[in-house]
Amino acid sequence: MLAINGDRVVLRDRDHSDLGDYLRWFKGGEWQKWDAPWEDLSPVVDEAEMIMQFAPRSPKDLPLPRRTMEVDTAEGQHIGWVSRYWIDRKTDWLEVGINLPEAGLWGCGLGTEALALWTDHVFSETDLVRVGLRTWSGNHRMLRVACKLGFAVEARFRKARVVEGRRYDSVAYGMLREEWERLRTGWPGVDR
Ligand SMILES: CC(C)(COP(=O)(O)OP(=O)(O)OC[C@H]1O[C@@H](n2cnc3c(N)ncnc32)[C@H](O)[C@@H]1OP(=O)(O)O)[C@@H](O)C(=O)NCCC(=O)NCCS
Repeated sequence: MLAINGDRVVLRDRDHSDLGDYLRWFKGGEWQKWDAPWEDLSPVVDEAEMIMQFAPRSPKDLPLPRRTMEVDTAEGQHIGWVSRYWIDRKTDWLEVGINLPEAGLWGCGLGTEALALWTDHVFSETDLVRVGLRTWSGNHRMLRVACKLGFAVEARFRKARVVEGRRYDSVAYGMLREEWERLRTGWPGVDR
């Protein structure tokens, strides 16, 4: 099992025992108001589909960089996950994402460290020239995390999102490989 140890969080491969947390998180929670709240979420969780996703997989069948990793606190509490996905595989255009549904722990620096470890993993395990990240202008915590790590705002689609009747900007960030090489030495939790 791959584990990436920071100071306050650990990124690790998914375990079958994580299923219970996911079933609880996807039944609702404050986090869903912040992660793409314009998307229609099914009120019914497809438990069978989730059980399939949690079928044990040997680490040797998992790609590097990982597509997703679980986030634990250093004390072992499972608090969420990080992910990556292709915008355009042909041009190596990739974006990363993060969700920490345990809202009681927001604002303590755990998200910044988890995204630092994850971005570091993605760049370290690839030759990618850039890593992207997308959010919306109402998501103050995500904007702040991206800013603290040094992601650059690359595009702002003004008033492109509607959340609870109000218009917000869609904000796209990016980091180039040379920026990562320079910035990572100041990131929390990252092995130097
Ligand atoms: C976004 C998320 C991953 C951030 O994780 P986190 O652990 O809360 O992040 P951190 O504590 O490292 O940093 C949050 C920063 O936002 C700041 N912040 C919190 N509320 C804020 C507000 N209303 N306005 C401005 N800044 C705010 C915090 O003070 C902190 O900055 P600081 O370190 O300079 O004090 C987490 O909150 C989360 O999962 N939210 C729900 C799902 C989500 O939004 N996912 C991202 C989808 S794009």
